[in-house]
Amino acid sequence: MTPNLSQTLPNSCDVVVLGAGGAGLMCAAFAGKRGRSVLVLDHGDTVGRKILISGGGRCNFTNMGAKAECYLSQNPHFCKSAMAGYTPQHFIALVEKYGIKYHEKKLGQLFCDESAQQIVDMLLAECAEANAKVVMQTTIEAVERHEDGSFTVRTNKGDVRCQSVVVATGGLSIPQIGATPFGYKLAEQFGLAIVPPRPALVPFTYTEKDMAFYEPLAGVSFDAVVRYGKAQFRENVLMTHRGVSGPAILQISSYWNPGAEVALQLAPETDWQALLKGARKTNPKQELKTILSEILPKRFVQTLIEQGKLPDKPMASVSDAEIHGVQQLFGHFMLKPNGTEGYRKAEVTAGGVDTNALHAATMEARAVQGLYFIGEVVDVTGWLGGYNFQWAWASGAAAGRVA
Ligand code: FDA
Repeated sequence: MTPNLSQTLPNSCDVVVLGAGGAGLMCAAFAGKRGRSVLVLDHGDTVGRKILISGGGRCNFTNMGAKAECYLSQNPHFCKSAMAGYTPQHFIALVEKYGIKYHEKKLGQLFCDESAQQIVDMLLAECAEANAKVVMQTTIEAVERHEDGSFTVRTNKGDVRCQSVVVATGGLSIPQIGATPFGYKLAEQFGLAIVPPRPALVPFTYTEKDMAFYEPLAGVSFDAVVRYGKAQFRENVLMTHRGVSGPAILQISSYWNPGAEVALQLAPETDWQALLKGARKTNPKQELKTILSEILPKRFVQTLIEQGKLPDKPMASVSDAEIHGVQQLFGHFMLKPNGTEGYRKAEVTAGGVDTNALHAATMEARAVQGLYFIGEVVDVTGWLGGYNFQWAWASGAAAGRVA
């Protein structure tokens, strides 16, 4: 379909939404359908850039298991109200209404069968139906509030007077496609606190020492439980040239504090003691590395032997203490990241506008009537797997019902 994009700005409207990402478009459609005149402004060239690059171009648009426990925030209860008001089933119904084919990839994660562009087109169609106008390539220069409670949004294309301003400018991840700290600055301008932003869902980098050790393992992947504090995730871990990545690592990175270690339990189902003691009895001539390589990648096992972390001998001469050592090594494989790949590679930004400053049911600033913050700019960060888009839809709908 042809996108409902305009070039010119009206002098005034009811609602100005800053940011044409998932949260902003959803909010605009909801507000427009209530009869509000809505204008969406964005400095980029392309509507919904992050939707388009998400899920490898197929957009993991929601997760059927999305609930408050799947989100990080200083106030873990904050997201509940919006999430209850607009559930994954609501979004699935919308996707089905537009005839977009989708599938569950794993763990409740829903992806388009064809293309993320279908989700952007669907949101633009919803905006068009609601008469919400979307204007791209618009730089927001300032937002001012007047004594009567209305706002003026100053842009490079002129000024717009409005009753409500909805900030949906996202986080800091992937600055190369237009992420800016604008939303945080605007929050500060109006006296709202910010929980310090940090990259999340992001690969770890190795220390120089570990780099020498692990670099030859680039490309190796295995199943593991990854733990940090009370958080734990079981999924794939992928070793890269610069560090570790893969879904389990991205998940744990959101919880990680710099300087700390994370613990990996490799091949979590394996009882190494029972396996190796049994093999020593039944197959004493077999090499330890052969048995281990049946469960873990051969290259990984070989490197650990070369580094002196595993003995290189037949099972008959492997002692109980060495078997215990194997159990310890694979049960509590400790990694001390040097840092993360930062916003350049982070899928989301954790932290953001302090939820204490917002009404949970509407996303309106407690101290500034008519000012709303939605989506990733808020201190609500989802797990990997469609949770962040679900938050964008739900928080956008919450604000769109009242703004
Ligand atoms: P979003 O960042 O989408 O939109 C903000 C908009 O504001 C942008 O269009 C930007 O141009 C505009 N803007 C910023 N500053 C501005 C300024 N100063 N003036 C004007 N406009 C401004 N999540 C998920 O659930 N499933 C997935 O599959 C993925 N996959 C994924 C892949 C990759 C590579 C990334 C980087 C991220 C994901 N995510 C994801 C996360 C998801 O994309 C993200 O959480 C949402 O897009 C956030 O939506 P928002 O609308 O809040 O911000």
